Amino acid sequence: MQLQDLVLAAAGLFQLSAAANNVQAFQKVEFSNVGFTGSYTPVSSIKNPNSDECSCSVGSKEWFSGTNAPISEAVSVHFRGPLILNQFAFYNSSSFTVGDNDTSSSWNRVAYFNASSQTGENVTFLTKAGTESPVLGKALTFAASDGVSSSESAAMLAEDTLIKSDDEYVIFSNVSCPKSSTKKSCGVYRSGIPAFHGFEGVTKMFLFDFEMPTETQTNSSSFNYYDLPAIWLLNDQIPRTSQYPTNANCSCWASGCGEFDIFEVMNGTEKNHLYSTFHTFQGIEDLGTGIQANGYIARDTSNSMKGGVVFDSDGNTVVFMSNSTSFDQTISPDTLNGILAAYAQDETVSTKLATISATAPSTTSKSNAHALFEMGPGKLWFYAFTFLTSVAHTVLF
Ligand SMILES: *[C@@H]1O[C@H](CO)[C@@H](O)[C@H](O)[C@H]1NC(C)=O
Ligand SMILES: *[C@@H]1O[C@H](CO)[C@@H](O)[C@H](O)[C@H]1NC(C)=O
Ligand SMILES: *[C@@H]1O[C@H](CO)[C@@H](O)[C@H](O)[C@H]1NC(C)=O
Ligand SMILES: *[C@@H]1O[C@H](CO)[C@@H](O)[C@H](O)[C@H]1NC(C)=O
Ligand SMILES: *[C@@H]1O[C@H](CO)[C@@H](O)[C@H](O)[C@H]1NC(C)=O
Ligand SMILES: *[C@@H]1O[C@H](CO)[C@@H](O)[C@H](O)[C@H]1NC(C)=O
Ligand SMILES: *[C@@H]1O[C@H](CO)[C@@H](O)[C@H](O)[C@H]1NC(C)=O
Ligand SMILES: *[C@@H]1O[C@H](CO)[C@@H](O)[C@H](O)[C@H]1NC(C)=O
Ligand SMILES: *[C@@H]1O[C@H](CO)[C@@H](O)[C@H](O)[C@H]1NC(C)=O
Repeated sequence: MQLQDLVLAAAGLFQLSAAANNVQAFQKVEFSNVGFTGSYTPVSSIKNPNSDECSCSVGSKEWFSGTNAPISEAVSVHFRGPLILNQFAFYNSSSFTVGDNDTSSSWNRVAYFNASSQTGENVTFLTKAGTESPVLGKALTFAASDGVSSSESAAMLAEDTLIKSDDEYVIFSNVSCPKSSTKKSCGVYRSGIPAFHGFEGVTKMFLFDFEMPTETQTNSSSFNYYDLPAIWLLNDQIPRTSQYPTNANCSCWASGCGEFDIFEVMNGTEKNHLYSTFHTFQGIEDLGTGIQANGYIARDTSNSMKGGVVFDSDGNTVVFMSNSTSFDQTISPDTLNGILAAYAQDETVSTKLATISATAPSTTSKSNAHALFEMGPGKLWFYAFTFLTSVAHTVLF
């Protein structure tokens, strides 16, 4: 990603505990205080998409705020190999708080995919198999049943489809976008693509039944992501314009419209460690590095894994892996909280996101971003992040 537009602030990290380098495996990764007031710049036009002359403009700032923002906006669900998807489900709830059975409401399944029964409800599989642009990369197309080649119309992923290293597909809802326009609900998007809405809601949950077997091809420099499988969420505007542009103005990513990595292998040294990361500007200036939990969930390369991510109504984001994960039409607060309560404290790592003191202003001003982080399993570790040069990105953009 090109980050040349970013205003970088020097960040000083004061580590208050000796246990910090002791990264270990957990079953559950929690973030709290998720959501802040900020802005990003949506793409307002894409000119000459398929030539070297391709250029993009961005519009005026789009402000977001509140619980889980900006991940509270519609998101698309991305998969990178080596990976097999057995089941996928998206849920919403009118109100759910982790650890509270009494005031929480049930989860309703809004989208579902089951590979073995070939059930597809409110899901559309897309992949980057369209026209290549030197600036935007390949255009989205409908994915064929192999997940990675182009299809004329929507198709369902076949059972036991193994996508390889570097291969990706995306799941959107089956709700079509209106025409590309800054004034319409999907914003501006690349011409000619099948354009669909992502998954909406502040309080939402994504569940997966999947496999991440070790890559069997030989490693070489031709791979970008050799044996680095991942499942992640993007603000749905990103893939509709460009996921990996050479010009940062061709996507809202660099201005912070939002990414959350649920299960991601980061590098070959830790190829069986699944990390969770926010790529938002909540208390950091380096969007590329993001806010990563100081612990990982183990990648089982020989069994299927079940788990997912809950974004609750109280700013808690919980990533978990559990064989008890259910994909039922409705999931009660007791069922989900029961799963989330079944872990010992040393199987949980918790990270508190920074509180950003910014309101949506009409003027450009500097504020003193003073961010406090707490990370660690239970109460074992404590960190304080202090931004020495305080440039509040949320206010500058
Ligand atoms: C959940 O999604 C359904 C289908 O889109 C919608 O009708 C319902 O209002 C949503 N519920 C909440 C609480 O967002
Ligand atoms: C979906 O898939 C699982 C295994 O992947 C299977 O056991 C289950 O019966 C299927 N569910 C439905 C509703 O078809
Ligand atoms: C979208 O999915 C829902 C749920 O499976 C289904 O009822 C509806 O007909 C689908 N709509 C389209 C346009 O495919
Ligand atoms: C499908 O998901 C989208 C995005 O969350 C939602 O707006 C739509 O109402 C859902 N469709 C059905 C039939 O639930
Ligand atoms: C992106 O857009 C901004 C604002 O319109 C402009 O100043 C900047 O030069 C553009 N960057 C690129 C790489 O085109
Ligand atoms: C691999 O990724 C982990 C998690 O981000 C990081 O802590 C570690 O330093 C990385 N290792 C290498 C060799 O880059
Ligand atoms: C694959 O090769 C790259 C260098 O081309 C290296 O960085 C990476 O760690 C290797 N991956 C594995 C799993 O060995
Ligand atoms: C989950 O089930 C798999 C078999 O599918 C098993 O290998 C694994 O140990 C189980 N995990 C836990 C935490 O029980
Ligand atoms: C919620 O209900 C589940 C299942 O009965 C239980 O395991 C969990 O401890 C309960 N949580 C609270 C906070 O009462």
